[in-house]
Amino acid sequence: MSRRRQIYEGKAKILYEGPEPGTIIQYFKDDATAFNAEKRGTINGKGVINNRISEHVFLRLAHIGIPTHFIRRLNMREQLVRQVEIIPLEVVVRNIAAGSIAKRFGIEEGEQLPHTIIEYYLKSDELGDPLISEEHIACFNWATHEEMQDMAAMAIRVNDFMCGMFAAIDIKLVDFKLEFGRIFDGDFSRVILADEISPDNCRLWDFNTGEKLDKDRFRRDLGGEEEAYQEVAKRLGLLQDDENGPGEVVDMSAHRSRLRPSTPAKPNPAKPKK
Ligand code: TMP
Ligand code: ASP
Repeated sequence: MSRRRQIYEGKAKILYEGPEPGTIIQYFKDDATAFNAEKRGTINGKGVINNRISEHVFLRLAHIGIPTHFIRRLNMREQLVRQVEIIPLEVVVRNIAAGSIAKRFGIEEGEQLPHTIIEYYLKSDELGDPLISEEHIACFNWATHEEMQDMAAMAIRVNDFMCGMFAAIDIKLVDFKLEFGRIFDGDFSRVILADEISPDNCRLWDFNTGEKLDKDRFRRDLGGEEEAYQEVAKRLGLLQDDENGPGEVVDMSAHRSRLRPSTPAKPNPAKPKK
């Protein structure tokens, strides 16, 4: 088998060239970092769970009309996505004060914000991902006004959808981070949702106990990261428990291939050969 070309290694994922032009394979690692990679560690099985959770969320967002880079999951740790030009911003949506906003303004963690807030951070570890304004984004041409409007509108829709999705499984969506990318069609470009949505980039608190079910367990040395990520996957119906252990990630592609007839696939005449 030919070796795939690695395009980029990030903190939690590796990107490989995809099988078709304009596609990328996202490999989810177990590596965890915090504080702009000052703190490093591993959360066992995180890559498998985040791959599955992110697939679940992106598929559902696509169903409500949010354009995303997700094409399909390939295996336990990899998914095929559209290649995008990443916009160098971290778009953070906050419903409840926690983390940096609580610290910055001296608000107690857990306080409901009077309304949902969208913040922008520059994606730069060297600069410590500084908080930026729309003025900065326009001034330095990180994104156009139209792209900012599209990102903000999508972020609000993602928030509304995910608040409901998590409320249904007794989880409060405190805040989360999104990344967007451009895809090009001739002279035109369009912004779509990229990266991943998982307990790595969401704050998720148990509705009843307030227990943290996200990466804050790692950031704050609380322990129990693996169990917390598993709990989110389990409540979303993505992890099957059995009496032998903590559970197994439900791999629907394995079920599908078992059901698939054994006749070889016919070429699709509608699809031009590359
Ligand atoms: P913050 O309170 O530390 O600014 O984080 C806000 C949200 O963004 C939280 O859900 C965690 C997520 N996040 C990332 O995904 N990557 C980051 O680098 C940071 C700082 C936060
Ligand atoms: N993206 C952060 C890091 O640099 C991690 C985080 O706090 O989520 O390491």
